Amino acid sequence: MDLKERGSFSSKFGVIAAAAGSAVGLGNIWRFPYVAGENGGGAFLLIYLLFIVAIGIPVMLSEFTIGRNAQRNAFGSFKKLAPNSKWSFVGLMGIVAAFLILAFYSTIAGWTLEYIVKAVQDGFSAGNTSEIFTTFSTSTFKPLLWQFVFMGLTAWIVFAGVQKGIERYTKILMPLLLVLILVIVVRSLTLDGASKGLKFLFAPDFSKITFGVVLEALGQAAFSLSIGMGALITYGSYIRKNNNLGKTAVQVASADTLIAILAGVMIFPAVFAFDPSLATEGPGLVFVVLPKLFLSMPGGYVFSILFFVLLAVAALTSTVSVLEVVVAYFSEELNMSRGKATIISSLAIWLFGILATLSFSDLSDVTIFGSTFFDIMNYSSANILLPLGALLIVAFLGWVIKKKLVHDELSNSGELKVKYFKVFYFIIRYLAPVAIAIVFVHDIYKVSVKDNSDDKSQNTEIVESKEAVEVVE
Ligand code: TRP
Repeated sequence: MDLKERGSFSSKFGVIAAAAGSAVGLGNIWRFPYVAGENGGGAFLLIYLLFIVAIGIPVMLSEFTIGRNAQRNAFGSFKKLAPNSKWSFVGLMGIVAAFLILAFYSTIAGWTLEYIVKAVQDGFSAGNTSEIFTTFSTSTFKPLLWQFVFMGLTAWIVFAGVQKGIERYTKILMPLLLVLILVIVVRSLTLDGASKGLKFLFAPDFSKITFGVVLEALGQAAFSLSIGMGALITYGSYIRKNNNLGKTAVQVASADTLIAILAGVMIFPAVFAFDPSLATEGPGLVFVVLPKLFLSMPGGYVFSILFFVLLAVAALTSTVSVLEVVVAYFSEELNMSRGKATIISSLAIWLFGILATLSFSDLSDVTIFGSTFFDIMNYSSANILLPLGALLIVAFLGWVIKKKLVHDELSNSGELKVKYFKVFYFIIRYLAPVAIAIVFVHDIYKVSVKDNSDDKSQNTEIVESKEAVEVVE
């Protein structure tokens, strides 16, 4: 493939805006609060932060390194850096993960469009926000239509190309989202009973920590940072050679984490002020709680419209990065034109995504091991494919690629000092693979034995950790 044909981000800020645009999305504002709510709040947050720093940032940096060095899509990068090996399989896994993630993500992204319309129409003035949400999410056609519209918007931007499509919009809209969230946070914090929400989010109750919670935190960290499936390998391949990759990774991860925490601070005080039982509401959380909050604030009508517009935009800059993984793969590896690749992949994903959307309505009774299609796609992508992908990506960079190449890429061939290199290298070789493997294998093992026994004795624990070690070796 001729390098001249590949797009690139035009400026440093453009890179950060696009990568942060990928990272910041429904994962921060829709998924983080409800997963934190279901997993005990403060204790979850603590482990989450630990994973962001110790594993998330190094994996993000690894993806940038692989992509910028190889100048290829996720699959092609592995093929180029390790020819005639099986590593390109990791790239394929990423393509599969992209399908799964987009299929259910576009369901929720579609909801945000309906909520823009609702906000404009009457600002949720009837006040029964739970009912409004249930009536909409359990209907058949509207959610499907919105999902289709959303995939269409995503395809349109991806089609427009890297610089003109992705970079242009994210630069303006992301900072605006931050400002709006801050305004809503202020309102939430001034509600009666707000402090209980803060306590829930920030006071860690260590008795709530189980391996399941740890896996959820790892999955959420990976999902939120957009790591583990090659989205950032693909974006990395559009980063210019004079960019400081380490700095970029830290900045993107910081922005992402800031927005997730702010989303928590925006939602939990309101949850506890209105109805504490909402804390474990699940996927409907922001859609039920925030409209109530808007009703209680001066200018709420305008804020609610702005908020759902920006939420849709945040989701869009994320779906774009996921679709780009598939499109870059189709066009570079299968020699398709960008237009054809975009249309085929987005249509296929939308068709597949119907299963996710109808999981709230017509297919809500169709379950596998008690989970709907939506739950399965959501759980298996975030908690299985992404951690596994992350493990393989760091292991690849740490063990397969020559150390000198890694150092050269991070230091821009010696131009930058990379004081963090030793720590980074240690993490990608040992800490991250071992930690991910332990969390991951422990939990998969537990899920697979759950049906046979409820025995949580010491014996099981030992077998589980042994397995984890075996996989690492
Ligand atoms: N990080 C995005 C969010 O938080 C979702 C996302 C975009 C993603 N690209 C990804 C998740 C790649 C995993 C992998 O909403």
